[in-house]
Amino acid sequence: MAPRALITGITGQDGSYLAEFLLSKGYEVHGLIRRASTFNTDRIDHLYKDFHDPSARVFLHYGDLSVSGQLTDLLHAVRPDEVYNLGAQSHVRVSFDMPEYTGDITGLGTLRLLEAIRKSGIKTRFYQASSSEMFGAAPPPQNEGTPFQPQSPYGAAKVYAYYMVKNYRNAYKLFSCNGILFNHESPRRGETFVTRKITRAATRIKLGLQQKLYLGNMEAKRDWGFAGDYVEAMYLMLQHEQPDDYVIATGETYSVREFVERVFQKLDMDYRDYLEIDSKYFRPTEVDVLLGDSTKARKVLHWEPKVSFDQLVDMMVEADMELAEKERTLRNAGYKCTHNGRSIP
Ligand code: NAP
Ligand code: GDD
Repeated sequence: MAPRALITGITGQDGSYLAEFLLSKGYEVHGLIRRASTFNTDRIDHLYKDFHDPSARVFLHYGDLSVSGQLTDLLHAVRPDEVYNLGAQSHVRVSFDMPEYTGDITGLGTLRLLEAIRKSGIKTRFYQASSSEMFGAAPPPQNEGTPFQPQSPYGAAKVYAYYMVKNYRNAYKLFSCNGILFNHESPRRGETFVTRKITRAATRIKLGLQQKLYLGNMEAKRDWGFAGDYVEAMYLMLQHEQPDDYVIATGETYSVREFVERVFQKLDMDYRDYLEIDSKYFRPTEVDVLLGDSTKARKVLHWEPKVSFDQLVDMMVEADMELAEKERTLRNAGYKCTHNGRSIP
């Protein structure tokens, strides 16, 4: 029988790459999705088949990390071999505006899922999407031994979840792992995260669809990898004989300014002609430098990133140029459309 995985956050950037990866390994994939008034399954539509189709291997279930009873029912119904908890309010800036909600979903949501596993008595392996944001103000490089100093409600919620995962491992012998992932990006990255905001804006500016790019702190440094490489690490953690916690990172760090510079350079533009700084995008407390040391994952899991920083920038610029061209074509043909190139009746 095919191994079965349950993914929360399957509609997100990582969820879509993970679902693809697990399908390629022969898994049956179940995903928890939230009901929304507009479609929120764009990133996984290419994987989905109607469940009446005998070849369907992706199954979606309505639910929410805020509702515990439903999570227990879902575990009973799916009986997964592996659970990947990627669902979260994942935006750091937004977590300052919605600290309680972020604590509820990103922190307590993890506990609800762990409790659902414990109560259901189902034997499964558990992956938690922990974050380099937990290191916060801790000086670089950061590894598994670096003490956490979170600088945001999001970071604090992830620290809570991290320790609950460790507690369930020790107290109930649950095979549970924390993947402490540093920033990872892709053409599927949400458009309000800085890399995607930059590649979207630069390509639209190039085609005359936008005039300015508004950003906040240009000097923050991040260790940016490719999301497709990082989901493989999640899988490898759950295949290992012992549950453990691992840092996943490239070991290189660049500032937001350097990212902007590279993107505009690739498009033969000078970013200084288009950039405006808007204090709205500054955070009450910032994480200045993230630079991960993933020696442990490289040694134990034999994991390493395949896509370089330059390749990542190229990939994102190319994909967003295609989107911008589609948008321009629609506009030139007289259609009203969103900046995603969707036409509006
Ligand atoms: P993302 O694109 O923002 O996706 C978040 C996912 O969580 C979406 O599928 C979203 O559903 C779902 N979600 C939000 N609230 C939920 C709720 N109340 N109940 C159930 N599901 C809910 O995030 P990502 O970049 O793929 O990241 C995946 C996970 O890794 C997150 O936990 C994030 O915090 C963590 N992480 C990310 C990075 C990174 O650099 N990307 C680094 C470290 C850790 P909708 O589509 O309905 O909104
Ligand atoms: N989003 C955003 N928008 N960030 C900006 C902007 C802007 O206009 N201008 C500057 N920045 C800076 C932020 O202040 C931050 O220092 C950096 O760009 C990266 O911001 P994000 O792309 O929003 O990512 P993040 O590092 O805060 O959080 C991401 O990575 C974490 C792992 O370290 C998210 O994916 C989290 O979910 C993840 O845990």
